[in-house]
Amino acid sequence: MHSFHYRDNRLFCEDSDLAQIAETYGTPLYVYSQHTVLDHFQRLNAALKGLDHEICYAVKANPNLTLLRLLNDAGAGFDIVSGGELYKVLSSGGSASKCTFAGVGKTREEIAYALHNEVLSFNVESEPELLAIQEVASSLGKTAPIAIRVNPDVDAATHKYISTGKSQNKFGIGLDRIEAVYELAAGLSHVKIVGVQTHIGSQIRESKPFVEALQKLVPLVKRLRQRYGIKFFSIGGGIGIVYQGSLESGREEWWSDETTKQGMTIEEYVTAVGPLLEDVGVRVLLEPGRFLVGNAGILLCRVLYIKETPVKRFVIIDAGMNDLIRPALYEGFHEIVAVDRNPKLDPIVADVVGPVCESGDFFALDRKISGCQSGDLLAVMSAGAYGFAMASNYNSRPLPAEVLVDGNSAQLIRRRQNYADLVEFELSVDED
Ligand code: LLP
Repeated sequence: MHSFHYRDNRLFCEDSDLAQIAETYGTPLYVYSQHTVLDHFQRLNAALKGLDHEICYAVKANPNLTLLRLLNDAGAGFDIVSGGELYKVLSSGGSASKCTFAGVGKTREEIAYALHNEVLSFNVESEPELLAIQEVASSLGKTAPIAIRVNPDVDAATHKYISTGKSQNKFGIGLDRIEAVYELAAGLSHVKIVGVQTHIGSQIRESKPFVEALQKLVPLVKRLRQRYGIKFFSIGGGIGIVYQGSLESGREEWWSDETTKQGMTIEEYVTAVGPLLEDVGVRVLLEPGRFLVGNAGILLCRVLYIKETPVKRFVIIDAGMNDLIRPALYEGFHEIVAVDRNPKLDPIVADVVGPVCESGDFFALDRKISGCQSGDLLAVMSAGAYGFAMASNYNSRPLPAEVLVDGNSAQLIRRRQNYADLVEFELSVDED
């Protein structure tokens, strides 16, 4: 079953009519397809079946509790980067013992919280952090399981803000020093070496950078296994998805692993990395975020005005950069389609922009989109990952609601914020 497709020129998510969902829950609105999330999880799992592996969903991509619960029930572990993400996993019914805790700036409070809950591993990013973990663990009378993140110095050929595996990036420890840091860890009383980790970047659309990183790292993993008996090698996330050209080109599939010029299929990814991992002798962990949820979500919005100027046409919608910041921040491409396709209207070329007071508040620039009029619904596709997760209240705009579709049923999984929510946490200054 396809997740997003037209029926008689009307866009559906699974068997649910998106115009009706917008009518019920309002816009801007995030809508997710349960089928797509589970299908992507299962397809990745199936492609990896020859390998002792575990998929740890990168919570940062979309931390909605219902999605976490869905993936937990499907058998996923979690890659977390903050105490807040651990709290969310626990709140969704997930277990800390399936969480790897990454991030360059864990605070002592977060370390204590993770130790208390017994996470699977801390992914250590520097010597000072390693020593902080030792100190906190020792003060609590606990032993911290650790993996150290290696920075393999490879170019992931992605946007510079989401490239993490070059030596100038803040992440991990270089190959020249990594073994010395493992030796340091081995000498610490309240730290136990359990794994090794890497992550070279996000939205990577070819297998080459992954292969290059693994070629550099697998010999190291084998040495660490022999020396310290490590149990896992986490190869991170980063699998890119297709953002462009499925619905409008008339193809009905909306899978993230289509073979297009922009993408690599999941089979290609596994065929490229699988053989390199076959004899590492430890469990392989993967941390996909975008691959699992990116194409499972859209942002539904309504056209407020069409503004014509002598040099431009602007389609002004009721969603803004505060709801989906990817185009503004990474010049990320998201396909934009009409929910009700009107074959009588010619396509138009326009900037699709939001109401926020910045020229960076755009979803598309000089883009050919289906003809639309004020009041029409548009769908910003592929917004399931790093969409709601990065939304903010900028311009004092309430956060959108989120809906999960399963077949012909649509359920609210996060209510829309209201104006009262915008002032809830503010305190007045004492006047005395
Ligand atoms: N593991 C680690 C250590 C990470 O830092 C990340 C993402 C992932 C896994 C998951 O990567 P994925 O499979 O989703 O590519 N906001 C940006 C993406 C930031 C990614 C940050 N780290 C965007 O919207 O493109």
